[in-house]
Amino acid sequence: MPRLFSLLFFLFTTAFFANADDGYRLWLKYDLVSNPALRKEYASIARFITCSENDPVSKTACLELQTGLQGLLGRPVPIQSSLSKPGTIELLLLPKGTADTDNLGKEGFKIQSARGRISITAAQPAGLLYGAFELLRYMQTEGKTGDLFGVHRPRIQLRMLNHWDNPLGTIERGYAGASLWKWYELPETIDPRYIDYARANASIGINAVVLNNVNASARFLTPEYLLKVKALADVFRPYGIKVFLSINFASPKILGKLKTSDPLDPQVRAWWQGKVREVYSYVPDFGGFLVKANSEGEPGPQEHGRTHADGANMLAEAFRPHGGLVIWRAFVYSPDPRGDRFKEAYQEFKPLDGQFASNVVVQVKNGPIDFQPREPFHPLFGAMPKTPLAMEFQITQEYLGFSTNLVYLAPLFKECLDSDTYARGNGSAVARVIDGTIHDYPITVMAGVANTGSDRNWTGHPMSQANWYAFGRLAWDHQLSSARIAEEWTRMTLTQESSAVTTIKELLLGSRETYVRFATPLGLHHIMGQGIHFGPEPWLMRSARPDWTSIYYHRADSLGLGFDRTAQGSNALNLYAPEVQKQWGYPDSCPLPYLLWFHHIPWDKPLSTGRTLWDELCVQYYAGADEVAAMQARWKTVKSYVDPEWYADVQGRLAAQHREALNWRDACVLYFQTFSKKPLPANLVPPKRTLEEMKRIVEIYQLR
Ligand code: GCU
Repeated sequence: MPRLFSLLFFLFTTAFFANADDGYRLWLKYDLVSNPALRKEYASIARFITCSENDPVSKTACLELQTGLQGLLGRPVPIQSSLSKPGTIELLLLPKGTADTDNLGKEGFKIQSARGRISITAAQPAGLLYGAFELLRYMQTEGKTGDLFGVHRPRIQLRMLNHWDNPLGTIERGYAGASLWKWYELPETIDPRYIDYARANASIGINAVVLNNVNASARFLTPEYLLKVKALADVFRPYGIKVFLSINFASPKILGKLKTSDPLDPQVRAWWQGKVREVYSYVPDFGGFLVKANSEGEPGPQEHGRTHADGANMLAEAFRPHGGLVIWRAFVYSPDPRGDRFKEAYQEFKPLDGQFASNVVVQVKNGPIDFQPREPFHPLFGAMPKTPLAMEFQITQEYLGFSTNLVYLAPLFKECLDSDTYARGNGSAVARVIDGTIHDYPITVMAGVANTGSDRNWTGHPMSQANWYAFGRLAWDHQLSSARIAEEWTRMTLTQESSAVTTIKELLLGSRETYVRFATPLGLHHIMGQGIHFGPEPWLMRSARPDWTSIYYHRADSLGLGFDRTAQGSNALNLYAPEVQKQWGYPDSCPLPYLLWFHHIPWDKPLSTGRTLWDELCVQYYAGADEVAAMQARWKTVKSYVDPEWYADVQGRLAAQHREALNWRDACVLYFQTFSKKPLPANLVPPKRTLEEMKRIVEIYQLR
């Protein structure tokens, strides 16, 4: 009897755990197609795979296709080297030099159907890899999210993750566990997870990764670490992924023991040339360096009286013989209490346009401050016609509630990409600046600060997987809509049940606006907890630098609220094209989401909603917190359609998010009320907690 009991227990638990979804498989689940008619249809077109190419990337394409089809169809799909029978999916590289190959470029592919066969053709192996994943995505989403047949090409050349991972395994602004890279175990031990990471990236078109933090340790350039970097590069190569490193600009001094790191010093230049040569001896297809210089205390050329261009060009010279890139970040600002941080990167970089070497790209954050829940697009986009500008988005939720908050970021990315810079008149969207259309940039890059870590589900909040996915998809094609990407991800990851898909899609699509409402409505920004950037701290008035406080940004006083960036104020608006200035420049016509970014508005000024600024502010904070409660209720309705482990995990995190939203609401409403001196609108119940209580709650986060 006890044996029978333990057998039953074993069967029960294994069955249970076999079904449980811990999130590890991401969107690459390849579970059996649940619709029998579709499964039959797919089975008839995928009886065999033909792969005749022998290079590593093409082989990966074949194996991925085989693995995926086997899962989706529930039976093995044999690979053959030739002979395409009906029911074959054929992966084929086209002969070089034809019109078709030129059209497809390095990474494009064409999917066609003829004589009972589906062919995926490409000019180069990476195209086959992306084509294989496209076909799998089509089947995974049961053909509901887009056309399969035709030519597909990426709009951006380098679609890149920036890992802010440190040598000791921590991650700067990482909320999903430790670094994926086990530096102390490399190169001898290759964690199989590296391969799964590469597969996930390749499946969404990511083709480049920066392995380490922009606040870079010099140790990555030592021979010991280059061996480790080589080991990772060897794992990623068959997935079409190139490796880059962040460097410490003072490396000539730190590692080379030179007296200076002055970029115009011949010994320094020779040191970098030797170092770059050495890097290529380990990783022959190395991508290049990402550089944070003269920013937040990092060393850079300015200490030596040189410019960012001098620094970048010195490195560019070292890369020239090898074909590598220098990606130089424009995230710079100086602690001037009378200045406006909004303008500083523009003021430093705009005059350098035209002075950078041809293998330098300047990487610009999406907005002028720092990855806030909402920012206007960075004024450098459209202002540097002679310098390829890369987009830097943040996928990790530094300012968006870490991993307790459900915030789908595609709408944030799209809002920036779709903003018109008017650089060349109407229709000069940021997306068309960075994809090279507007200024003919020869190099195009979109980077995202990664949200991955060692948590079993990779991203901490399981729903944040959608942000990694969305970043890759938008870097491939910035014309895709947030809704389509949400639907793809939901179908591949969570459920095919159409009412649940609709609910989850709506939850995702509304989530960013909800976060903005309960944290930084109407264009408030940078009023979060000092240092950790979590929770509200609008009262913060002292910090190591004035532009790290909250009062620097919200400028609340007895008259009103907001940062005047018009000509009467800092005049940051003047950095934009006249059409943009017109759009945001007048308090009466400035769209409410940007209002307090650009204007200091009197508390009792009526807004377009018919309410005064004060009333509207309160309404937004209350609506935001209520919306989180509504998200909780909506999530409950999908319970029977999603995996129980996922369900419970998201439910718990939404409850935490609701608690945090109430903290934001109460802290901000009570604090700003000390300036407005007005009661809350009659229909809102005033916070039960006092401002002092809110301060104590938030202070906890500042304790070590
Ligand atoms: C933010 C972030 C830092 C990071 C910096 C950067 O300020 O808080 O942790 O180093 O951005 O992008 O360089």
